[in-house]
Amino acid sequence: MRRVYLDHSATTPLDPLVLEAMAPYLSGVFGNASSIHSFGREARAALEESREHIATLLNARVDEVFFTSGGTEADNNALKGVARVNAGRGKKHIVVSAIEHHAVLHPAESLKAEGFKVDLVPVNEYGFVDPEAVEKAITPETCLISIMHANNEVGTIQPIRQIARVARDRGIVVHSDAVQSVGKITVDFKEIGVDLLSISAHKFYGPKGIGAIVIRRGTEIMPLIEGGAQESNRRAGTENVALAVGFARALALALDSLESEASRLEDLRTYLHKQLADRFEGVIFNEHPDFHLPHILSVSFDSSRRDVDGEALIMGMDLRGVAVTSGSACTSGSLQPSHVLLAMGRDVKTAKATIRFSMGRSTTKDDLDYAIDALGGVLNAMENQNVHLQ
Ligand SMILES: Cc1ncc(COP(=O)(O)O)c(C=O)c1O
Repeated sequence: MRRVYLDHSATTPLDPLVLEAMAPYLSGVFGNASSIHSFGREARAALEESREHIATLLNARVDEVFFTSGGTEADNNALKGVARVNAGRGKKHIVVSAIEHHAVLHPAESLKAEGFKVDLVPVNEYGFVDPEAVEKAITPETCLISIMHANNEVGTIQPIRQIARVARDRGIVVHSDAVQSVGKITVDFKEIGVDLLSISAHKFYGPKGIGAIVIRRGTEIMPLIEGGAQESNRRAGTENVALAVGFARALALALDSLESEASRLEDLRTYLHKQLADRFEGVIFNEHPDFHLPHILSVSFDSSRRDVDGEALIMGMDLRGVAVTSGSACTSGSLQPSHVLLAMGRDVKTAKATIRFSMGRSTTKDDLDYAIDALGGVLNAMENQNVHLQ
């Protein structure tokens, strides 16, 4: 059976050139980057070269880039690290958007148990955060604002520069989860104006298990992981040189072809959009019409117009060899509607009847035609079954 991978927002395959760059550091060069002998210095040189490369590509300073195990750790560090610095100062209020990734929402939840108050800023029907709503949520106790750069489920890009300005004008630290945007659209750390940025390499054909937190010079933040002086005391643990080398190489490759690839993907997205709108009844497109990532298309079936079983939808696509996600989490065997789609005003049934297509370098128009036909097949089978049951 043909297999079509349309889940690049979940993860991407490792670029063979990235693997090639990493190979020497997985075998021959094995020294501990913190050792002072020649073996260690060799590893250290590769680590620091990777850091420099990443900093240049993101327009950050080299001493602002700190390696983490990925986006989840970077988000946890941003939230808990800034909150804990401010805990003793009476600044115990945090503002996040309602559509953040769980890597932000769950640490925010656990900070509540430490006495912090957390406000969730609402979004509109396209999952767009209004900077004025962020401004309104600020109190004299606010120590941190965390708003993602681009949403992983629907692809909407947030007005992060304006939000950063609102925060910085008031001396509040601002964090942005850029896990989905880095490598897909231009992300310039200085220009965006945030204090903290989260990145993950496996979203742009790099290895899994590495990412970074970019910390603007002078930002007060506590480490999440203690036990060593690595990463300038910001993140303890023996450095993973091979992954850092792979991260830098993957980012360089992604940025080399960023414009041409973004435009190719946007064309494919437009094609998919039109095909879905023409062929299927009751579809709602979830992204912001103007501000969206080029490679994500999320579509819901409006429950007031059509009865679509979300679980059967994804399973039916998988049986036909098409890998997509629903945007809903499967918890203890049942499908939970996505908090993102609920925050955007979708009802529970519509939110469950959602498919996220996320395209990547290997995606062709032919793949999309195959996926659209598969969707047609799944919906027909579902309808026939419904008729049969009536
Ligand atoms: C927006 C966003 N933040 C954070 C993460 C977590 O990143 P990682 O898988 O590197 O831990 C993801 C992964 O899907 C994501 O999409």
